[in-house]
Amino acid sequence: MEQSLPNVSAFEAAKLPRHRWYYFKEAFSPAIVEHMIRTSSLSVGSVVFDPFSGSGTTLLTAAQSDMFGAGIEVNPFLRFVAETKGLQADEDDFLKAIERAIEGAKSGLPSHLEEFSTFSEKAPLAQTRDRWLFNSNVLRAYSGASKATENEPSSVQKLAKLCLIGAAMDCANASKDGKCLRYKKDWKSREYNKFDFIDSLEVRSGIVYDDLKACNTSSYKISVNLGDCRNFDIEKKFDLCVTSPPYLNSFDYTDVYRPELFLGRFVSNMNELANLRFNTLRSHVQIKWKDPVENEFGPKYKEAFEQISSRITDLWNTRLPLMIQAYFEDLCLVLRTLRKKAKTNASMCIVVSTSAYAGVEIPVDLIIADLANQTGWALREVTVLRHLKRVSCQQWHKLNERKNGPLLRESMVVLDATPMRG
Ligand SMILES: C[S@@+](CC[C@H](N)C(=O)[O-])C[C@H]1O[C@@H](n2cnc3c(N)ncnc32)[C@H](O)[C@@H]1O
Repeated sequence: MEQSLPNVSAFEAAKLPRHRWYYFKEAFSPAIVEHMIRTSSLSVGSVVFDPFSGSGTTLLTAAQSDMFGAGIEVNPFLRFVAETKGLQADEDDFLKAIERAIEGAKSGLPSHLEEFSTFSEKAPLAQTRDRWLFNSNVLRAYSGASKATENEPSSVQKLAKLCLIGAAMDCANASKDGKCLRYKKDWKSREYNKFDFIDSLEVRSGIVYDDLKACNTSSYKISVNLGDCRNFDIEKKFDLCVTSPPYLNSFDYTDVYRPELFLGRFVSNMNELANLRFNTLRSHVQIKWKDPVENEFGPKYKEAFEQISSRITDLWNTRLPLMIQAYFEDLCLVLRTLRKKAKTNASMCIVVSTSAYAGVEIPVDLIIADLANQTGWALREVTVLRHLKRVSCQQWHKLNERKNGPLLRESMVVLDATPMRG
């Protein structure tokens, strides 16, 4: 069962052309997708699908192998990242747009976010809490630069927008840390301003320029639909699916990526953000989703679920057993739907991590393996990719699992489509 594959983590993707345009900590490595493409009988034009496409690692890697990368992503910012990484534009047109953006950043413009939530020192909530995500002159530089590029042709405008969002995030007072945004230790004394924003924009756009110049991707076929993959339709059936659902660790992507969602105007108010949250897989307890009803997910699930339910007083949230149940109910639904969209000889690779709550391990990989039969798939293999630190911030709870918790692992579960009944 154990075999190590190279380059499993997002760090590797961060060094590769195009993948490096936006660092998405939760991405997997293109090496996993390449491995699956190599070991499946695919040909030019085959459809490689990812229902949880995130930053688009599967889609871009498939397109780089002359295949059609198709995906679904519920978070509009991440959908934008995935789509933009496949775009091509004339590198000199792009550079001219960035020059205009820099002029726009120097002049600055008032930002719609300055008085919103905790987005700048001017927002009432930020004043109460004495902390804010961006200094207002960074927001103003971003607004000026956005305005300066809004009439560019679509591809150039999107490429520039990705760089602008990245540059603003480089100058944010908080950064992503585990499942939260954490204020940088010395954020007040750093005093990020428009010149930091411009420096960062120059670095980021330089990388995009180099990649545009090095490889023309006009022939790439990438399509990412915005939506909830528990309920989706796709035009073409797929040959291979390589995917990684949110892990069962109470990480809420809509929360951690909310600066990007608001900066890029992918959402415009808290209601829209909340609606988005309801469309995500039930892998977190930040909102009160509809309770699950199914509870038959095989023997390994049953054992873990019973143990966790019996330790309810040790859990940091009493809805965690329900979340676990809801997670597998959602995964079952996705696996069944995927089977209907799979070609006869299709296969699928699901990258997941195990979890632990109240010291009880949830062997997510082996539970998915148990689910294969009831969802129209046959188990080919479960391969451990790497063992993780004892516990991440996301699994933290009252019992101090850092010392006592089980060792977690990341695995890939490979399934083959079985003939459809009826
Ligand atoms: C582990 S990440 C995928 C990372 C991806 N493999 C990559 O390399 O960038 C899981 C993704 O699933 C998305 N997601 C969560 N619920 C979803 C749903 N119901 N439908 C579609 N996407 C969803 C999240 O927004 C997140 O981007």
